[in-house]
Amino acid sequence: MRKVAEPIPAMASPPGHNVTIVCVLQALCLIPLSFILGPMPDSLKITFAPLGSAPSGLAVILAASDLALSKTAAALLASAKDLLARAAAADGFKGKSGSFLDIVAPEKVAASRLLVAGTGKPADWKELDVIRLGGAICGRLPDAVTEATILADTVAGPLSADQAADLALGLRLRFYAFDRYKTKKKDGDEGPKKRSVTILVADEKAARKAFKSREGIADGVDVARDLVNEPPNVLSPPEFARRASALERLGVDVEILGEKEMKKLGMGALLAVGQGSRKESQMVVMRWDGGKDGAAPVCLIGKGVCFDTGGISLKPGEGMQDMKGDMGGAAAVVGAMHALAARKAKVNAVGIIGLVENMPDGNAYRPGDILTSMSGQTIEIINTDAEGRLVLADLLWYAKGRFEPKFMINLATLTGAIMVALGSEHAGLFSNDDELAQNLTASGLATGERVWRMPLSPEYDKLIDSQFADMKNTGGRYGGSITAAQFLQRFVGDTPWAHLDVAGTAMNSVKNDLNRSWGGGWGVRLLDRLVADACES
Ligand code: BES
Ligand code: MN
Ligand code: ZN
Repeated sequence: MRKVAEPIPAMASPPGHNVTIVCVLQALCLIPLSFILGPMPDSLKITFAPLGSAPSGLAVILAASDLALSKTAAALLASAKDLLARAAAADGFKGKSGSFLDIVAPEKVAASRLLVAGTGKPADWKELDVIRLGGAICGRLPDAVTEATILADTVAGPLSADQAADLALGLRLRFYAFDRYKTKKKDGDEGPKKRSVTILVADEKAARKAFKSREGIADGVDVARDLVNEPPNVLSPPEFARRASALERLGVDVEILGEKEMKKLGMGALLAVGQGSRKESQMVVMRWDGGKDGAAPVCLIGKGVCFDTGGISLKPGEGMQDMKGDMGGAAAVVGAMHALAARKAKVNAVGIIGLVENMPDGNAYRPGDILTSMSGQTIEIINTDAEGRLVLADLLWYAKGRFEPKFMINLATLTGAIMVALGSEHAGLFSNDDELAQNLTASGLATGERVWRMPLSPEYDKLIDSQFADMKNTGGRYGGSITAAQFLQRFVGDTPWAHLDVAGTAMNSVKNDLNRSWGGGWGVRLLDRLVADACES
């Protein structure tokens, strides 16, 4: 059943890591490097050094509300009396959180350029404030600057090791840009090419250690972003599965099941969705065993519709290109598994993704078809565009039966209706378990990947009763996200379960201090945090 994973060239090393061996190649054959490789990948190198070291390149200092500076920042400016006060007055800069002051070529200062970042009141900082500050700083570094030094010190004292690492995490999250398919970079294209940032911090050893786990998380986010951004001609179900198998390098056990294996399991719902595609449907099961031997795992389950045309119930053409992102749930699961394995989380976690392409075709499934799911329950198809719930029905049933999880969470770009309800700042949360729902809500607030609980209630079940089968795959016009969730609930039994409808968040993601990418990697940090807080501590 297991397919052996082959090494993967492009995806395996997460963005931000560079290949140096090729320089040797270049020296040998004197062909321009970019000719052999295409454009060099962007890279951001983050290092930590002790506070008080001389800054190199652009210096970033933190100024609190009343322009109050730390001792180290004040020392840096000591020989340029009044510089900050005069520049701030000229620019109306008051040290407000989120505001910046740029001072080019400051006289008598040991830095070519100063970037003053307003912090508001550092005493009031929450973790997310510091991460966002890092992101904002990264976004503010001018294109021409390849080297920068951040003085991680405020009037309230030096940043803790965790805070310095959070600042670095923010830089990493903001730095990402998906430009693999741009052969020319235009002026104004977001995102730097190569950059090295040093963070000056009180305890640099502790900060380095604290950053290690966060780096794994940032890598996981970038893995998810790459998957969501990748075009559908490249990222077919088999290619997605192949990329997921790169997790084996981190010690994750990866199984790939094809159509034959899924047929044996009776996954008639998932398989129907992919039957109109030339690409083989796949299920990938990823296991990270970092917890106690035999302890029930948590299951993370993702909808991976690599492209959703709607099938025979074809979608309108306008905007259809966005449906390459209909695998955002699966991408988040792979990214989260990456994060957990990279930081060696003390948990048993299983990631399960269903990868299909929903196409119109002579062999496609039809409205009117009646499918038999793995659970044995039958489903009348009303609309082939309500395909995500069919994929998840078999995944949830499989997860529950094989792993008897402590809890399971599925992520799916499931309904347009959730965007009508919540827009793009919250994912919809549906759960049969209050504790799990509360934990997810808390993790959302901590990471900024927020969720909003929506109702489940048996009354809605009427809306998906079918006259021919056990249920139909769509409800009526109203409450579309809720009827989709009610449908899923029929496949989870008593297992504590949460469904995140990420249609508004995982693709066409909001651009903010921590993300500039269409595929924002939404959900990776949420899941990682949930596991850390609910399972590891
Ligand atoms: N993948 C879509 C949902 C979606 C829409 C995600 C917009 C992201 C942005 C899903 O498969 C779908 O087509 N849902 C239908 C369900 C309907 C036919 C009951 C929808 O939301 O319109
Ligand atoms: Mn659809
Ligand atoms: Zn879909």
